[in-house]
Amino acid sequence: MDKKYKRTTVTSALPYANGPVHIGHLAGVYVPADIYVRYLRLKKEDVLFIGGSDEHGVPITIRARKEGVTPQDIVDHYHNLIKKSFKEFGISFDVYGRTSSDIHKKTATEFFEKLYGDDKFVKNTNQQYYDPEAKQFLADRYITGTCPHCGNENAYGDQCEKCGTSLSPMELINPKSAISGAKPELRETTHWYLPLDQYEDWLRQWILEDHKEWRPNVYGQCKSWLDMHLKPRAVTRDLDWGIPVPVEGAEGKVLYVWFDAPIGYISNTKELLPDSWEKWWKDPETRLVHFIGKDNIVFHCIVFPSMLKAEGSYILPDNVPANEFLNLEGDKISTSKNWAVWLNEYLEDLPGKQDVLRYVLTANAPETKDNDFTWKDFQARNNNELVAVYGNFVNRALVLTDKYFDGKVPAVTELTDYDKQTINEFIGVKEEVEKLLDVFKFRDAQKEAMNLARIGNKYLADTEPWHLIKTDKQRVATILNISLQLVANLAIAFEPFLPFSSEKLRQMLNMKEFNWENLGHTDLLEDGHQLGKAELLFEKIDDSVVEAQVQKLEDRKKENAEKNYRANEIRQTIEFSDFEKLDIRVGTVLECQKVPKADKLLQFLIDDGLDKRTIVSGIAKHYSPEKLIGKQVCFVANLAPRKLKGIESQGMILSAENVDGSLAVISPSKEVKPGSEVK
Ligand code: 2FM
Ligand code: ZN
Repeated sequence: MDKKYKRTTVTSALPYANGPVHIGHLAGVYVPADIYVRYLRLKKEDVLFIGGSDEHGVPITIRARKEGVTPQDIVDHYHNLIKKSFKEFGISFDVYGRTSSDIHKKTATEFFEKLYGDDKFVKNTNQQYYDPEAKQFLADRYITGTCPHCGNENAYGDQCEKCGTSLSPMELINPKSAISGAKPELRETTHWYLPLDQYEDWLRQWILEDHKEWRPNVYGQCKSWLDMHLKPRAVTRDLDWGIPVPVEGAEGKVLYVWFDAPIGYISNTKELLPDSWEKWWKDPETRLVHFIGKDNIVFHCIVFPSMLKAEGSYILPDNVPANEFLNLEGDKISTSKNWAVWLNEYLEDLPGKQDVLRYVLTANAPETKDNDFTWKDFQARNNNELVAVYGNFVNRALVLTDKYFDGKVPAVTELTDYDKQTINEFIGVKEEVEKLLDVFKFRDAQKEAMNLARIGNKYLADTEPWHLIKTDKQRVATILNISLQLVANLAIAFEPFLPFSSEKLRQMLNMKEFNWENLGHTDLLEDGHQLGKAELLFEKIDDSVVEAQVQKLEDRKKENAEKNYRANEIRQTIEFSDFEKLDIRVGTVLECQKVPKADKLLQFLIDDGLDKRTIVSGIAKHYSPEKLIGKQVCFVANLAPRKLKGIESQGMILSAENVDGSLAVISPSKEVKPGSEVK
């Protein structure tokens, strides 16, 4: 690191608090940021790691409306869930705040006021689409219509995803509100804009000339934005969720989420350090580094720096190591399609395996291009690298020491040339790893750390202490001493990457603390030092475990296809006479059992008031049969009989489908006589 800096402020993108976080978030932003911060801390540098939730924006309001709750309910729920997931994965934030906090509201308001007072905004009135049913102006993304270029009927107001053309909402033919389906109307509205065009020359110099060292993907994206020329950007919106615009006459308007969110980094610092936050943001001897995904580049490299520049008293980012995207099993990760590995679910299915995921995500980090996460690769990296290389070496060194020297570090007597050669190989690791971490090459840095274990394995395989012990215990002492020093080095080198395993290893080695400066040393464990108890650092992952994960994803794909089908079905209205055709009745369940070889089906015997009838129903995933015996259910009594798995089903049991796809059988709220009609 450039020594002219005294401290480093590290931020990681504030995730929207409207859904849980998934492996793409972890790989793209939080694991690399955490590795970097842990590395600086081990070097005893002054560093602050800022995180938090982004709790404003239109999607949160839409989700709240759909679920019949308030936006605050949504963000409260997800903020806590996300915060917990990060903690469980060892993402070591110094503070994890939220943009619905009072301190943030105050900070963002004051920031706006300063720029407003200094005349940094341009006020502009124009026409925008308004949804008369939802009673709100519509963000471009929430207007759909026919693309004027290719005729796609589901183009968005900002882009047609079929032909890729970027659009403005006014170009759409037959525009429709994506919120209510209503036909939007044009209404006049006034907003405040940050005139980015006025910052263009300054940005060109600052990025394109002064920061040529930024990652090529980041630099390239900035260059193409700048080459296309910048336009003023509205920093306010017509919305009832967000931070009110602190200007008279701006009722019903809030700060645009991308104006307030990055200020969240500052507010969260203030929350943690109310008296000393300024040195982390305003002292030119502080270095600011933003970890983000590629979709956030323009905001962190162009918009936010322009805001900071306009304000005048802040430092600017020194680097913005943005990652590309991580795909999942060949497809783009998608929250709406539930195509993701959610962190909370991962830990339910693979408890205690945080470091395995951290390892795989770093080994496969999308640093220079989009990458793919597959469960097969996850298994292979665990079994062939963590278990077979790292874990195996550590285990052999510790178990042999335990066996031959009662778990005490044996002393070196004499070094052979081969020993010296091995030592030489590993003392260079510190410099190598540093060189890579300093330029944000986490993937290569982790590979380099893993090399220590490869060196160790080779050393043990070549020297074979398990044979030598019969003839030359002194030689074995030297071999194991060197091996244990290597293990101690591994524990330190891997701390930024695999903190849980390093902590476990620290206890196994009975070491007090780690210090990056010790890396490469061969005297980390003194002669006679008593080791702790050896345990397995990693364990093999069986085929069945990853197969279950792949199956889970395949099931989701099927569910999605079905959901899409249902969502697209045209809901026609029916006449009352049509409704009257349905004969819905209440019956009592006499018997209920699983249908063999059909994991979704249950076979019922129902008392329908007149007789007993058999009905087969696809709810086996949601109920165990014995729970339903004796219950009253509603069923369609006059449905033509049909055969399911060879059983004639004489009717259909009615269930309600929850948003998550789970089913709940419909029953009368109090007991009625079997055969009662439902009207
Ligand atoms: O893309 C996102 O998920 C945004 N919520 C990131 C915001 S980063 C910062 F500006 F807060
Ligand atoms: Zn199109």
